[in-house]
Amino acid sequence: MTETKADNIPDPELDRAQVWLVMSPAKDHQNDQLVCSDLPDEGRMVVKIEVIPLIPENKGKSATSGESAILKRLQHDHIVRCIDSGECENSDYQDDSGYLIKVQQYFLKMEYVGDNLRTWLNNKGTSPGKLVSILADFSCQCFGALAYLQECGIVHCDIKPENLLVAESPDGKAIIKIADFGFAYDAGKEGFKVCKNGEGAAISGSAQFAAPETKPKHGKEQTQTHKSDIYSFGLTIASILCNYAVIDAGYMRIPDGTDRELTLKKKDIPMVQELVLLIEKTLSWEPESRVTASEAAEEAKELLVAAEAAGAGGR
Ligand SMILES: Nc1ncnc2c1ncn2[C@@H]1O[C@H](COP(=O)(O)OP(=O)(O)OP(=O)(O)O)[C@@H](O)[C@H]1O
Ligand SMILES: [Mg+2]
Repeated sequence: MTETKADNIPDPELDRAQVWLVMSPAKDHQNDQLVCSDLPDEGRMVVKIEVIPLIPENKGKSATSGESAILKRLQHDHIVRCIDSGECENSDYQDDSGYLIKVQQYFLKMEYVGDNLRTWLNNKGTSPGKLVSILADFSCQCFGALAYLQECGIVHCDIKPENLLVAESPDGKAIIKIADFGFAYDAGKEGFKVCKNGEGAAISGSAQFAAPETKPKHGKEQTQTHKSDIYSFGLTIASILCNYAVIDAGYMRIPDGTDRELTLKKKDIPMVQELVLLIEKTLSWEPESRVTASEAAEEAKELLVAAEAAGAGGR
């Protein structure tokens, strides 16, 4: 993510949402730019900006406006906080060929959380043992957030390491938050997404972490529900455990209609068996037999309590 000053946000490219880490402008500088009034006290925030040409085909096309509408309704310790959002018409936007075109600008201001999970772990350089206790703690936090999303009727559709952000509190505790609701939808209002043969409602998110029921199959309906988010989260944790050689690469096995069994390579790490068993429950092939977010949150909590009692530590 590129850092920029609040009074100097670069013009975004057309048709693609761009994310900037925005720092406060100098105190004596008058900030009159639409997207950057109202900086939070911390002096920095993240601004997502999308610029879309104002033509009839683009009506309702803005992912950022959908993301803002959903994020504004959500309030949870483990979901990124929306500060403000809006849109404005800007008639003198210059495209690549130098033409002035009429565009609509959408913006979403969020709290700055910290590095995404992949970057955070790379910088942390933790041991496999420490990693397992961190991931058990993060699982507990995220399953709680996923249970909350289910209560609110929201399906995220793009859970992956780059969309989970980590903040460190002053006492050193790592806090994880779910971000990037650009593909999310309101199943409470719209009903669950269903499409056939890859046509109809777009099944979204990243193919690498997608649940089997979301992938196009000829003659079969695809669905994307809360259970698909559970699967994507489980696969996120499995991919990290695999990177650290705690489990084998079985988590990537070509889908064959069976539940995933993860093979443990490092059996003597505290909590590892329990964590891997819990993650396997998120990776059931059939969404109906997958663990729910609230069951998983409960199990992860028990796992942490048991680890603390045994002196393994939950963080
Ligand atoms: N609130 C935030 N605090 C800190 N970093 C953030 C925040 N929001 C986004 N980022 C960083 O910016 C990256 C891209 O943001 P986001 O995933 O919301 O946008 P995107 O346009 O969907 O990007 P992509 O297509 O790469 O997923 C994230 O992976 C994260 O590293
Ligand atoms: Mg993203």
